[in-house]
Amino acid sequence: MSFIQFQRNEEAARVIASYYETPPLLFVHSYGCQQNVNDGEKIKGVLTDIGFGLAARPEDADLIVFNTCAVREHAEQRVFGNVGALKGLKEANPKLLIAVSGCMAQQKDVVEKFRRHYPFVDIVFGVNGIDTFPALLCEKLAAKKRVLRMPSKREEIVEDMPLRRDSAFRAWLPIMYGCDNFCSYCIVPYVRGRERSRKSVNILREFHELVDAGYRDITLLGQNVNSYGKGLAEDIDFARLLRTLDAVPGDYRIRFMTSHPKDATPALIDAIAESEHISRHLHLPVQSGSNRILKEMNRHYTAEEYLALIDYAKRRMPEMTYSSDIIVGFPGETEEDFCATEALIRRVEYMQLFTFIYSKRTGTRAAEMPDPTPHKEKTQRIARVLALQEQVVAKLGGAMVGKTVRALVEGAGREEGTRTARLDNNMTVDFTGDIPEGRFADVRVTGVRGAQLLGRLA
Ligand code: 5AD
Ligand code: SF4
Repeated sequence: MSFIQFQRNEEAARVIASYYETPPLLFVHSYGCQQNVNDGEKIKGVLTDIGFGLAARPEDADLIVFNTCAVREHAEQRVFGNVGALKGLKEANPKLLIAVSGCMAQQKDVVEKFRRHYPFVDIVFGVNGIDTFPALLCEKLAAKKRVLRMPSKREEIVEDMPLRRDSAFRAWLPIMYGCDNFCSYCIVPYVRGRERSRKSVNILREFHELVDAGYRDITLLGQNVNSYGKGLAEDIDFARLLRTLDAVPGDYRIRFMTSHPKDATPALIDAIAESEHISRHLHLPVQSGSNRILKEMNRHYTAEEYLALIDYAKRRMPEMTYSSDIIVGFPGETEEDFCATEALIRRVEYMQLFTFIYSKRTGTRAAEMPDPTPHKEKTQRIARVLALQEQVVAKLGGAMVGKTVRALVEGAGREEGTRTARLDNNMTVDFTGDIPEGRFADVRVTGVRGAQLLGRLA
């Protein structure tokens, strides 16, 4: 594993200053997961570092970046649609530059498609090329030629990249990159590369900076945070990293995502239970409740093992809530397999579910599996999960009524005169009262509407 230190591209700063009469404006749109949102913040940081300002709307920008996601076909279609829609803007302003980055740009056939069918896309680079973006931009401006980089296998961790965070109180903190799990449906290991962890000193330094800057909600990121530390020279694992960070004094919360059930252990649950700052919420994607399907998915755990860990967590922390990702309609999923998923959902009682219809990704193992279930049946199964989830959420919400909770105010609520705030267990409450965002408030939960808690200042 190798680490490199980010270097500001002085040459690029000079080129930008001489090419544009006034500081050019950048607009970045990130799709997909939090990792990608954090990459978007780095793209903004690296370019503002060489003289760009930020545009509020794509119409005002001199450079538009689509930072893309490849996890499902639907996400890719949206990107192609949105990039296509920029053609008009480009015709109106020939100086406008358009760049595509992120996970889609890690696929050769996608880069080829941009080359052939989207002539107005100027720059393409993959997930591990953010630090090189200023150099690519100079190349484009100097040669007046498109700069489309084929996916690179580059896997160094670049430390100290500048970044422009979207929020002043919620922050993303990547602790590892890539994934080695090769779940049979998933494209991520192919586009984000091998699993690699940041050194704990660098994580701890960034964490201190965030706490000192007043960040109240810090989410540790990785495709599989539970395998943090593998391959590092230091003797550390995720539970120990959590304990180290939790020891930093201050008024803040730690969250993390995503945990893989095969690597989540009672030691992790203990670290949460014994912590002062770690949110009482666990996002533990189960994907399916059928052992046969879990095996086909290459997940390396059974529904029973998963439930045993949840039961342990429930015993240690009765106030804990859970969320999960579910894939419906994996190749060969039968009605019986699906019923096992429903049974597991009923048993765990998730506070939140992210439910997806299986999407075939070329190059993955599942793409080769026969998939006879009609799409209509899959959408019916999704509807059944959502209906079930509604009941579960109503029950969990109802149990909160009458409690007074400490919650971090995130902004305006849905109704006039209300604010919305996030509880330690990741539920949100809309309450009447006027507390600025980024502050904690004590809120009394007075009711629940759908999945939404309602309350007033205590
Ligand atoms: N089809 C549908 N959902 C997928 N996910 C990952 N790959 C696919 C796919 N091919 C879902 C998983 C994962 C979440 C981030 O996206 O549920 O946990
Ligand atoms: Fe994909 Fe599985 Fe890795 Fe998650 S753990 S990114 S689902 S391969």
